[in-house]
Amino acid sequence: MNKQIIIAANWKMNPSSLQESNELINNILESSNQTNNKIIICPPFTFIYPLSQYIKNSNIYLGAQDCYTKISGAFTGETSISMLSSLGCSYILVGHSERRTIFNETNKKINKKINLVINEGLNCILCIGENKNEYEKGMNKEICSIQLTECLLNINENDLDKIIIAYEPVWAIGTGLNATPEIAEDVHSYIRYWISNKYSEDIAKKMCILYGGSVNPDNINNILQKDNINGVLVGGASLDSNKFNKLINFKYNN
Ligand code: PGA
Repeated sequence: MNKQIIIAANWKMNPSSLQESNELINNILESSNQTNNKIIICPPFTFIYPLSQYIKNSNIYLGAQDCYTKISGAFTGETSISMLSSLGCSYILVGHSERRTIFNETNKKINKKINLVINEGLNCILCIGENKNEYEKGMNKEICSIQLTECLLNINENDLDKIIIAYEPVWAIGTGLNATPEIAEDVHSYIRYWISNKYSEDIAKKMCILYGGSVNPDNINNILQKDNINGVLVGGASLDSNKFNKLINFKYNN
């Protein structure tokens, strides 16, 4: 297999100081230039600028974990897409399950953000996925379908190349319980089918669909063996440079 693999990191609200953030990126930089995989790192807002200085001459892309739904104005505490863009971010995570559950983000709000990110010329990583209860009821594809329908409302086919989809079953995030590669592949192939149905087969083929949820160096190989999985979105293991360096240097054996 020689598909382009994306390894994206979501640092969430970590690490706890600028010094630790600098140390982490330095350790990652040492091995990032040995890989052809595409690396995207989404640090907290506060560390984006210093990180951008470290990665200037590297192959690492910078992302943000969120953005606001307005371009500018009196919105105390919020961060606009143009601010993020001016710091060198080319990706924005949208609709992460922690934003959905802890901060009550709806599909409608996520759709607004996706439209804005695209209009501002950046790329989105749209996170979707069912919770434990929904999974146990066998509703994983149904939930993904609803989230895709509402989050991609009014997004036209020319813009789909600016969107990466990350399937992250909520029950697998930060729990150590990853979906088996077979479960993930089943949902990923459904997502690709959904895209081909709504847009076109050609677009569906090109769509990058990442898996996220307790990815680590021990399970990445089996996950990325699956045809419809183009990469991974990593939380916990991206904060440990030994583990993350193994992930970014992932290679197919054949
Ligand atoms: P995890 O997080 O790898 O710690 O499960 C993934 C994510 O939330 O994107």
